[in-house]
Amino acid sequence: MTIKVTVLGAGGFIGSNLVEFMLGKGDYDITGIDVTADKLAGIEGDAFDFKMSDIMADEAVDACIESDLIVDLVAYANPSLYIEQPLDVFHLNFTTNMHVVDLAVKHSKRLIQYSTCEVYGKPTGETWHEDESDLVMGPIDKQRWIYASAKQLLERVIYAYGADNQLDYSIIRPFNFVGPRFDYLVAAGSTGGPRVFSHFMSALLTGGPMYLVDGGNQHRAFTHIDDASEAFHKIVTQPEKSNRQIYNVGNPDNNITIRSLAEMMIEIYSELNGERPDTELVEISGEAFYGEGYEDVDRIPPNIGKMTDLGWTPTHGMKETLRDAMESYLDAPIPV
Ligand code: NAD
Ligand code: UGA
Repeated sequence: MTIKVTVLGAGGFIGSNLVEFMLGKGDYDITGIDVTADKLAGIEGDAFDFKMSDIMADEAVDACIESDLIVDLVAYANPSLYIEQPLDVFHLNFTTNMHVVDLAVKHSKRLIQYSTCEVYGKPTGETWHEDESDLVMGPIDKQRWIYASAKQLLERVIYAYGADNQLDYSIIRPFNFVGPRFDYLVAAGSTGGPRVFSHFMSALLTGGPMYLVDGGNQHRAFTHIDDASEAFHKIVTQPEKSNRQIYNVGNPDNNITIRSLAEMMIEIYSELNGERPDTELVEISGEAFYGEGYEDVDRIPPNIGKMTDLGWTPTHGMKETLRDAMESYLDAPIPV
C-alpha cells in the first residue's frame, strides 16, 4: 500500500536523502516542504511534489492534513548556531515544531519526529538506551545545551500526547549521520559554521587546517545516511511495533574520536586523489572555534536493540561511510 507522506525539511541533508530513498522504494507518495531546494536538484519522480514553503504557511499545513504521515525534520542543527543564535534555535526547534505536533494531534496524523542523540547529553555509562538512560545537560550559561533542551522538551510533550492517546508517533534520535549533501563547504581556516565532516572535507579541498576542537578526543558514532534511511523505513512500515516508541538510530561500530575521523579522512582523500593533501591537524579551544557558551561533549555508543528488534542493523563501516560522503564532494566548487 502506498504511504502518503509530507516531509517537512525535505530540502535539508537528511530530507533530500530520505526523498531519494523513498522514491527508490516506490512505496511512498511524497510532498516535500522546505524554504530551500538546492539539495533536491536532480531528485525527481511522479511520486514527489515539492513546495517551496515555510512549515507555518497554509500550503504546508494543507499538505500535512492531506497526508497519512508527517515527517518533521525542520530544525537548526549546527552547534555553531546554538551559540550564535540560541533564541532562534529554541523558537524553531521547539515553538515552531510544536505547531506541527498540534496539527498532528488535531487531525489525527501519525508523526515521525527527528530528535537528536544530543538529548542524552553527557556520558552516563557504557551505552545509551532510549527508555532507560538519564538525560544530563550542562549549566545554563553553556548555551550549547539549548538545542538538546528544546529537543528534549519536544520529546516530552509528544510522549505526553501519546500517553493521553491523542497522538501516534515515533521519535528518532540520530547519531551523527554522514553522507552526500551534508551541510556545506567553507573557506580555509574557517571556524564555527557547519558540522565536523564538512569542515574536514573543506580543509582537504582547500589545503586549510583541520581544527581539532579541545584536542579531538571526543567520540561520535558516525552513521551512513543510507543505513539511516533504511531505519526510517523499518519504523514507518511497522506501526504496530513502532507506535509511541523512541529509537536510537546510530552505528555503535563506528564510534571513533574526532582525531581518528581527521586521520581517516586524510587517508581516504589520499587514496582517492593519489597524493597526500596539504592540510595539517591544528588543536584549538572550543571557545576559540565556536565562541563563549560552547561546551564539548564525549559520546558513548548507542544501544540499538530496539532497532534490531525491528529488523534493522547498520551495514556500512566507517571507511565506506566516509568514502561515500567524501566522493560526493570531490568535484564541488572550492570555497574561497
Ligand atoms: P538540515 O539543516 O540539513 O535540514 C533542516 C531543513 O529544515 C533545512 O533544509 C532548512 O531549510 C529547513 N527549514 C528550516 N526552517 C524551516 C521552515 N521554517 N520551514 C520550512 N523548512 C525549514 O539538517 P539535517 O541534518 O537534515 O537534520 C534534520 C533533522 O534531524 C533536524 O531536526 C536535526 O536536529 C535532526 N538531527 C540530525 C542529525 C544529523 O546527523 N544530520 C543528527 C541529530 C539530529
Ligand atoms: C551534532 C549536532 O548537534 C546535531 O547535528 C545533531 O543533533 C548531533 O550532534 C548529531 O549529528 O548526531 P556534534 O556531534 O557535536 O553535534 O556536532 P559536530 O559539529 O559534528 O561536531 C562533532 C565534534 O567535532 C565536536 O566535538 C566538535 O567540537 C568537533 N569539531 C567540529 C572539530 O574538532 N573540528 C571541527 O572543525 C568541527
